[in-house]
Amino acid sequence: MVTRAYTVAFEGVSARTVEVQCAVTPGLPAFAIVGLPDKAVSEARDRVRAALSALAIALPSKRVTINLSPADLPKEGSHFDLPIALALLAALQIVAPDAAERVTALGELSLDGSLVAVVGALPAAVNAASEGRGLLCPQGSGAEAAWVGDCQVIAAASLGDVVRHFNGQVPLSTAKPGEVLAHETSRCLRDIKGQERAKRAMEIAAAGRHHVLMVGPPGSGKSMLAARMPSILPPLTPAEALETSMIHSLSGLLESGGISRARPFRAPHHTASMAAIVGGGRAAKPGEISLAHNGVLFLDEFPEFARPVLETLRQPIETGHVSVARANAHVNYPCRFLLLAAANPCKCGHLSDAGRACSRAPICGEDYMGASAAR
Ligand SMILES: Nc1ncnc2c1ncn2[C@@H]1O[C@H](COP(=O)(O)OP(=O)(O)OP(=O)(O)O)[C@@H](O)[C@H]1O
Ligand SMILES: [Mg+2]
Repeated sequence: MVTRAYTVAFEGVSARTVEVQCAVTPGLPAFAIVGLPDKAVSEARDRVRAALSALAIALPSKRVTINLSPADLPKEGSHFDLPIALALLAALQIVAPDAAERVTALGELSLDGSLVAVVGALPAAVNAASEGRGLLCPQGSGAEAAWVGDCQVIAAASLGDVVRHFNGQVPLSTAKPGEVLAHETSRCLRDIKGQERAKRAMEIAAAGRHHVLMVGPPGSGKSMLAARMPSILPPLTPAEALETSMIHSLSGLLESGGISRARPFRAPHHTASMAAIVGGGRAAKPGEISLAHNGVLFLDEFPEFARPVLETLRQPIETGHVSVARANAHVNYPCRFLLLAAANPCKCGHLSDAGRACSRAPICGEDYMGASAAR
C-alpha cells in the first residue's frame, strides 16, 4: 500500500504542492528517497530514522521508498522531514492514512524528535488554503502561517505531539497569528537641522515614490537623511504587508511570526555581490531588491558599488520584478522599491566645498563618479 502526505516546494514567492508517497515493500532493509532531492532532503533519512527511534518506533526490516512527486521538480530544504515522517507513520499504521492526507506538512526534525522552525511557512499556508487542506508545522512557524485566515494551522513542538494529535490522545489547538508589529521608528526627520530643500525633496520622493540620488561632501547628512526616510513613509496596506511578508518569510526574516506594517528599509553594504543584491545563489534566493519590495533600497556610497551590480538594477527598476534563472531554478520575485542613493562628489569628498576645495578638481570628481565603470 502507498501512503501519502503533502508538502510544498518553493518557486519564487509561490509554493508548489509536492506529494510525498511512501511504500514499504518486501526486500532487503533500506530507506530510499527519490524525486530529485537535494542534500538536505536526502539527509532527512537519518533525521527521520533518529526521530522515530526517539519515539521508540523502529523502521520495519523491509524496503522503504519515499517518492517526492512531481519527480522532475527539484526539492530543496530541510522542511521535507516532517511530511516524510508523516507518510512513513501512516505506512506503519501509527497514524491514520486519511488524516495524514488532510494536511500540508512542513518542518525540520531534530534527532530527539522535536520540530525546528523552517522558512516559508506563510507561502506554504497560502498553498494549503488554496488546496483546502490544513497546515501542520513546527511551533516556531505557527504564528507566521496563521496569518492566512482560511487555513487551519496546527503547530506542534515535536513528532510525538503530532502522533498524539492524529490519534486523538492530545489534540493540538489551532495556532494564533503573531502580533502586528507597530510601525514605529525613533529616527525622525525633525532631528535634521536646516537642510530644508533636502527634506522637501525626501518628502516629495516619499509621496510620489520617486528615486533619489543625494550628492554632497562628507558629514553633510546624507546617511542621516536616508535613515529617516522610513519615518515619513505611509504604513503598508494589508495586501502589501502580506506580499512583503511572503518574501521575508522565505528568507526567514519574520520576527516571531509577526507581520510588520512598516515599509522595509534595506541598506546593503557596497561590497555586496550581484547575487546578494538581485537574488540568486545556488538556491535562487530573493535578493536585497526583493527584500526591499514595497519599501526603500538605500545604496550608500553609490559609486563604490561594482558597475555590473548597478547595471543589473536597470531592468528590475523598470519592470518591478526580477527573474532569477539558474541551472535548476527559474523564479520570479517582485521588487517595486524606492531607490535612495548617496554619493560623495569625489574620492576625497570636497569637490564642491568652498572652504577646502579639492586639489584635483575637476578630475577627482570625474574619476570617482566614473570609477565603478572601470571596475
Ligand atoms: N542637518 C543636520 N542636522 C543634524 N545633524 C547633522 C546634520 N548634518 C549632519 N549632521 C551630523 O553629522 C553626522 C554625519 O552625517 P552623515 O553621516 O549623515 O553624513 P554623510 O553625508 O553621510 O557623510 P559621508 O559622506 O561621510 O557618509 C550625523 O550623524 C549627524 O550627527
Ligand atoms: Mg554617509
